Amino acid sequence: VELSAYNTLKVSARAHRYTEAASVDELRAALGWARREGLDTLVLGGGSNLVIAGDVSALVIRMTIRERSWCDVEGDEATLVLGAGENWHEAVLYAAAAGYRGIENLALIPGTAGAAPVQNIGAYGVELADTLVSLAALDTHTDEVVELKASDCRFGYRDSLFKQQSGRYIILMIRLRLCRSYPFSLSYGELANYFPDQPGAEALTPLAVAHGVEAIRRRKLPDPLQLPNAGSFFKNPVVDRDTWQRLRASHPQMVAYPAGESMKLAAGWLIDRCGWKGYRSSHVGVHNHQALVLVNHGGGSGRDVLELAERIRRDVRETFGVDLEVEPRIVSG
Ligand code: EPU
Repeated sequence: VELSAYNTLKVSARAHRYTEAASVDELRAALGWARREGLDTLVLGGGSNLVIAGDVSALVIRMTIRERSWCDVEGDEATLVLGAGENWHEAVLYAAAAGYRGIENLALIPGTAGAAPVQNIGAYGVELADTLVSLAALDTHTDEVVELKASDCRFGYRDSLFKQQSGRYIILMIRLRLCRSYPFSLSYGELANYFPDQPGAEALTPLAVAHGVEAIRRRKLPDPLQLPNAGSFFKNPVVDRDTWQRLRASHPQMVAYPAGESMKLAAGWLIDRCGWKGYRSSHVGVHNHQALVLVNHGGGSGRDVLELAERIRRDVRETFGVDLEVEPRIVSG
């Protein structure tokens, strides 16, 4: 199978063995087969947070479990159950159209519901961990289905148990607690500008907020279908306050946000300042409107993307003394 259809960076790579799992039984069967054949496995969701650096010898299993249902309705609150294979953005619109709030700021994030907890997707002041109550996963160490509560998932900024123990758990289904009457979270700069008179905005609906977020994202983030990419390619680096004071003394314009005791630096600003925004080598480059996003102009390989990322990291390290960490998962042959 050619994998370019299954990763949003559209890098070309071959997998000799590919299957889809629409249920836990199909998943178990695929894993059992791989075990008997002595093969590793690579589990894919929407392929939107992934760099495939070469042909894949593992069995590729794409998760296609479909389910969208409500349960535990109590007053204004309800739990939305999503199968791992559900498209995330469609699920956001579905919840918002039903009047439920909590994930509307996460509109237009590419990928599947099952992949959302892995990197704890986040945007515009909201992250998945804010609404996720629990999930079901297959523990590949025991072959049992386990229920994990949010507090078991070790969520952090772009981080979770599923990244820390990569490969152990395969997410089957997630449960989100949503509410018809939560206050909207509109304080993130660009969103606040988009909805300027928010406090009195009685008429504001979750669907209107989701559409606002879509419009903001479309302005600066490339649509993977038009310009292949994997979203933010680096995490925003977290530094302690002393480091931040020192950096700001020499770079007064540097952009950063408080993150608990620490400061989160805008990696896009660091990369932009080093002159990379809009850079293009033959096949790959840096997006014109958001320096944090690497793009494939066509024909670029995973290695081309990683080489460009490494040049950027080196430049940022030499210029600011700050280390950038690659965000998407790298799959090496
Ligand atoms: N900036 C620049 N130049 C750039 C890009 C950014 O100067 O080329 C500066 C600007 O000052 C801007 C600031 O950096 O105000 C922050 O940029 P932005 O608001 O675009 O957010 P970000 O920190 O770059 C993060 C997430 C995005 C998420 C946005 C909005 C990470 C790694 N990325 O980006 O997530 O959509 O905030 O909440 O945390 C993703 O993970 O794929 C993703 C798109």
